[in-house]
Amino acid sequence: MKILVTGSTGLLGHQVVKLALDAGHEVLATYRAKPPAGGKPIKLDLVELESIKQTIIKLKPDVIVHTAAYTDVDGCETNQELALKVNAEATKQIALAVDEIGAHLTYVSTDYIFDGKKGLCREDDEPNPISYYGYTKLEGEKYVRTRSKGWCIARASVIYGWGGTKKNFATWLINSLSEGVQVKVLMDQYVSPTLNTNLAEMLLEISGRRLTGVLHTAGASRIARYDFAVELAKIFGHDPKLIKQAKMDEMTWAAKRPKDSSLDVSRCAELLKSKPLEVSEALRIMMAQR
Ligand SMILES: NC(=O)c1ccc[n+]([C@@H]2O[C@H](COP(=O)([O-])OP(=O)(O)OC[C@H]3O[C@@H](n4cnc5c(N)ncnc54)[C@H](OP(=O)(O)O)[C@@H]3O)[C@@H](O)[C@H]2O)c1
Repeated sequence: MKILVTGSTGLLGHQVVKLALDAGHEVLATYRAKPPAGGKPIKLDLVELESIKQTIIKLKPDVIVHTAAYTDVDGCETNQELALKVNAEATKQIALAVDEIGAHLTYVSTDYIFDGKKGLCREDDEPNPISYYGYTKLEGEKYVRTRSKGWCIARASVIYGWGGTKKNFATWLINSLSEGVQVKVLMDQYVSPTLNTNLAEMLLEISGRRLTGVLHTAGASRIARYDFAVELAKIFGHDPKLIKQAKMDEMTWAAKRPKDSSLDVSRCAELLKSKPLEVSEALRIMMAQR
């Protein structure tokens, strides 16, 4: 299978590339600034909307896993033009290209398309983003649904794990605790933490089987960020007492966050061979990957 992965340097994208190469696929790895470690590097800056469609049509992949996004939630609130371009308009161009060459597109979306009032949201629950990031990712979803035929929207929540170009929740916490630094973590925000390698496996299965529709491809545990942090600390042998509780209303973010953006993953658990993992199991795997 010829697979094109966008965001191939990212926390998720680099694992999709790695897994696809391990499985013997031909991997076209698109990047913005720094070429990726694996796959055939293809420079594709998603702000250059005009070149996206032609580049993809020329490369003619069988499937695309579109992980690239402007993921800085507060940054999206203040750079709205850029956020809309990268997360929505570029996705539209990818969807149009996919339609033209008859490829399959898996678009990685987010729990932040929900308002967080309900929690354990199912695939058909009504989206209602409360941040500009969430809004742009939902616009991306709409383009995928309307501009391409063979598509899957795969929604995740708090992706964590090794690699990528910046720290994520888990690596930030492990770094801080290993240096004896006290941290504050939210005890009233609920999420479905998703290990990057677990998600990469699910995405490759979706692409390989050309599954269509919306799937919640997150971790299998609904958990408060604080409790997740304590589990992380214990597994990695750090002192959980360094983790202090904070509340969402103490935060001074530019963008609002949903209070409970956990996802119901039962459809995915039923359908896929690669199952969404519970936090305890995923953390054991992350520990073993160190
Ligand atoms: N992280 C989370 O907690 C989370 C939760 C739910 C859903 N998601 C979704 O999951 C996907 C992957 O997230 P992630 O955590 O792996 O993100 P990430 O580590 O921030 O990686 C994002 C990737 O997108 C690329 N990118 C950004 N702007 C680009 C542009 N203008 N042109 C081309 N590439 C560009 C980045 O390249 P550079 O490094 O060169 O900028 C990077 O490779 C995203 O679609 C995100 O919306 C993430």
